[in-house]
Amino acid sequence: MKVFVFGASGYVGSSVYKRLKEIPKVSVSGTYLDEPPLFDDLTRLDINEPESFSDFYKAEQPDVIVWSVMSGPQEQQLTEQGLMHLLTHITPETKLVYISSDYVYSAGKGPYSETDPVTTLPDEHKLSNYANGKVKAERFIANELTNYVIVRVGPVFGENQIGKMDERTDRLSYHLRAGKAIHFRDDLFRTFCHVEDLAEVIVEMVSNDIVGVFNAGSTEPKSFYEFMGLTAEQLGFDPGFVEKASEEEEVDQEIPKNTSLHTEKIKELMKQQKT
Ligand SMILES: NC(=O)c1ccc[n+]([C@@H]2O[C@H](COP(=O)([O-])OP(=O)(O)OC[C@H]3O[C@@H](n4cnc5c(N)ncnc54)[C@H](OP(=O)(O)O)[C@@H]3O)[C@@H](O)[C@H]2O)c1
Repeated sequence: MKVFVFGASGYVGSSVYKRLKEIPKVSVSGTYLDEPPLFDDLTRLDINEPESFSDFYKAEQPDVIVWSVMSGPQEQQLTEQGLMHLLTHITPETKLVYISSDYVYSAGKGPYSETDPVTTLPDEHKLSNYANGKVKAERFIANELTNYVIVRVGPVFGENQIGKMDERTDRLSYHLRAGKAIHFRDDLFRTFCHVEDLAEVIVEMVSNDIVGVFNAGSTEPKSFYEFMGLTAEQLGFDPGFVEKASEEEEVDQEIPKNTSLHTEKIKELMKQQKT
């Protein structure tokens, strides 16, 4: 089986790539954008660039594609250009595993199930590019393909296969090591997901005959304040330095309060795969 990992130099993608490399009978190729790549055998590719995308895709012809690409403020461009290039090349036999986000449930009244509708943020909202880029991508995929998996995930945390930590935990350690307080919101609830749990789920989706939409992550939603306090404790720091951040927000720019996820569907699936 031939697998492509787009975003193989990223935080999640590098773990997925490394895990896939260890599976006999899987031939895996990956892409990166910014130098230097994390692995020597990755191909440099700007997914938004039509000709190089086409050349790369035609040369490789994968059975499964993992989309682990993110570009925050340029997410809509990634969807409208990069993902569209992919959708014009992909054949019905090729499966797409697309990593999406809890921000597709931006109405902010979680916990959400996979069958709940996805919604966009107003265009002028500061998070709209990312959130709406993901919503648009999911809609394109559902309209154009049948052989796909969409995995929706909240904040991803922890050390990945190549020793990279998420940016939030890095910031926490940096502050606490210096004996400085750090602030997180106690009114924003999320379903946090360990990077290696996510990578395991993605590899399962690649390796097995599974299609559909899945929410991934831990069982209990937590606020950022609570979660980061627990993380501080686990890292051996004094959680007293983790303080509550202000909940004041600009008018019309409120961050979705509760995008937590029901994750029973994926837990049941993973249990079945292991028995
Ligand atoms: N991290 C989270 O908390 C979180 C939460 C929810 C969902 N997700 C989803 O999980 C997936 C992986 O995220 P991540 O945390 O691993 O992000 P990441 O570390 O920023 O990795 C994203 C990757 O996308 C690549 N990329 C960006 N623009 C590109 C372009 N135009 N052409 C080709 N490659 C491009 C980057 O390549 P270079 O590194 O080489 O520049 C990078 O490797 C994304 O789909 C994201 O939306 C992540």
